[in-house]
Amino acid sequence: EAQDRIDDLIGRMTIEEKAGQLSCFSDTIRPLGRPTNPGEAARDAAAMLMAIRAGQIGMLFNGHGVAGARKAQRAALQSRLGIPLVFAADVIHGYETIFPIPLGEAAAFDAALSERIARAVASEATAGGLHWTFAPMVDVARDQRWGRVAEGAGEDVHLGCVLAAARVRGFQGNDLSADDALCATPKHFAGYGAVGGGMEYGAVDVSPATLRAVHVPPFAAAFAAGAGAVMASFTDVNGIPATANRPLLTGLLRDELAFRGPCVSDYQADLELIAHGAASDEADAARRAILAGTDVSMQSGLYNAHLPALVAAGRVPMARVDEAVRRVLGLKMRLGLFDRPFRSLDRAAERTRIGTLATRALAREAATRAVVLLRNDGDLLPLSSATKRIALIGPFGDDPAQLDGPWSFAGYRRTGIDLATTLRGRITAPTRLIVEPGSGIEAPIPGGIERAVAAARGADIVLLAIGEGGDMSGEANSRTSITIPVAQQALADAVAATDRPIVVLLRHGRALALQGAVAAAPAILATWFLGCETGPALADILFGDVEPTGRLPVSFPFATGQEPWSYDRLPTGRPPPAEPQPQGGTGRWRDAPDAACYAFGHGLGYTRFALETVTAPPVLADASDVVVTVRNIGARRGTHLVQLYVRQRVASLARPVRQLKRFAHVTLDAGESRAVALPLGPADLAIVDGRGTRRIEPGDVDIWIASSSADPGLHAVTRLV
Ligand code: IFM
Repeated sequence: EAQDRIDDLIGRMTIEEKAGQLSCFSDTIRPLGRPTNPGEAARDAAAMLMAIRAGQIGMLFNGHGVAGARKAQRAALQSRLGIPLVFAADVIHGYETIFPIPLGEAAAFDAALSERIARAVASEATAGGLHWTFAPMVDVARDQRWGRVAEGAGEDVHLGCVLAAARVRGFQGNDLSADDALCATPKHFAGYGAVGGGMEYGAVDVSPATLRAVHVPPFAAAFAAGAGAVMASFTDVNGIPATANRPLLTGLLRDELAFRGPCVSDYQADLELIAHGAASDEADAARRAILAGTDVSMQSGLYNAHLPALVAAGRVPMARVDEAVRRVLGLKMRLGLFDRPFRSLDRAAERTRIGTLATRALAREAATRAVVLLRNDGDLLPLSSATKRIALIGPFGDDPAQLDGPWSFAGYRRTGIDLATTLRGRITAPTRLIVEPGSGIEAPIPGGIERAVAAARGADIVLLAIGEGGDMSGEANSRTSITIPVAQQALADAVAATDRPIVVLLRHGRALALQGAVAAAPAILATWFLGCETGPALADILFGDVEPTGRLPVSFPFATGQEPWSYDRLPTGRPPPAEPQPQGGTGRWRDAPDAACYAFGHGLGYTRFALETVTAPPVLADASDVVVTVRNIGARRGTHLVQLYVRQRVASLARPVRQLKRFAHVTLDAGESRAVALPLGPADLAIVDGRGTRRIEPGDVDIWIASSSADPGLHAVTRLV
């Protein structure tokens, strides 16, 4: 019946109306919906309403608020065919209530938590008049210089798949037509995370086999979870910009992966085909984009402007336009908009469902779960109750504007709490707190270091809140050096010279290469951008009310020059020896170990765990379990993340030195032990080639149960037959 309705509509649409359904524009009717590219003219609200009534617009994006959306929807219903609009936005880590950046959320290694967060975010965003988010970003990030590492689940394929599916389930709920369901858009198809040199908008050159083994699986997982739409990458992929890449957007996306929802361009990526040298003019760009498989043109207006003439001239078949329109109308149908065009445009929900106490509590839980304790020499943390003088130093201690990080523009009420505010409320006499920024984020402040050093001298402990500013990661923010900015490194080095014990609280949107006094500090916490509950979450962890349980979703290298670096790299024929040899001749850098400084999967807690025994089946079968016994050998209750890595020893395609296949949390009292069963089957070891063929090859498989990707852990061997 839905198909009949869609076919009937398509039969009655003019080519101009079809082009309108395939066109998405930045929503200038509502707040925040301004165009983002420099030099781009915005249509004023009146002109936009006229275009909607004329059937020239199918979706609006990045506007906020119910009142304006209702006005726009009324205009759409006044158009000749009365096709409702869809309202979209980049809701990346929260609508009003800002959660940790996705990379920080990934550090929790917890699909159920990610699903709950996405559900809460969807509830707020739909209460604010949205139906569709351009999220999750599921690009597997292989180079930490790339700023968009912040927006995804990090470097690992398995974690990427698990979280992609969880986020889609959370955004969409069980029924996409429900008032609080937000259509998910896994992006950016595909390979953006392998962008050369980590340079934003650069070219991606990746073999067909690696594309399928590394970059495509999280998309496949998101599609299997029911994602309603997909966004094509901005970039060139193997010589053809993704937006005009037919092998990618039709061959791989449709024929191989059987995805059925609409594929939207990333912003004006169709127009950008001209700058890529892949199209001669705007009409040619529109033609190449639609023929390749880009169903929806965002912001450029090229489909409105050129599809009618291209179809009239026979240069674009009407059947291809109809296919794209069918996908868009199919999504509107799935969203329930034909029957309830004002779904999610409810003023009462906007008043009651945004910024609730429950959502705020979840934001605090998410923020504490995101924190990774990288180092804790001498059990410096949690802070002892004998600590009487605390110096909070650095530009991130007392700055509520620096809590959210990239893509949090909708959280405009800015109710975030920084660490200084929390500590001031929490610390009572005789304990004293002194707060000194010491430095700006990228520039020194006059006398800042001197004041910070004086504060440190008078303290029992220094909390050093340093790192990247909120605008140093995210889109268009690649870095050549992923270190602490020079001005803050100077601050850290000067403060360390006071010999006070230092707890480094890193703020960052990617893995960092830590140097000097920062690297040498006895306690280091990776805290990403934690969002509105930054202060309370950090205080909970510093004082030991909550144990840090996060684990790194990205490897921290020793030096930027190691990038691109991921733990699951392919083996070399000349692996470095266990003991360094002076003569070299093996795969190594002269000036850095062939290893991460802090490995993917690493993270400490406030107790210690021992992995005691592991058993694996001699032959891997579908219902096999690998069973590990874990004991809490510390003095307090705690949670450990058990990680299962594999490697097939010999295969027809090179196998990574290790690959994460399963992970599970286990919470144990002091002294307690438990057997944890992790399912593993032959399908987990399948090899996919450049044509997308999957096969299972017989042979021995190493299994490691470990506490990080670099931990030797416990070893077992199984076999594929
Ligand atoms: O969704 C984003 C995308 O990730 C980057 N370019 C702009 C789009 C729309 O805002």
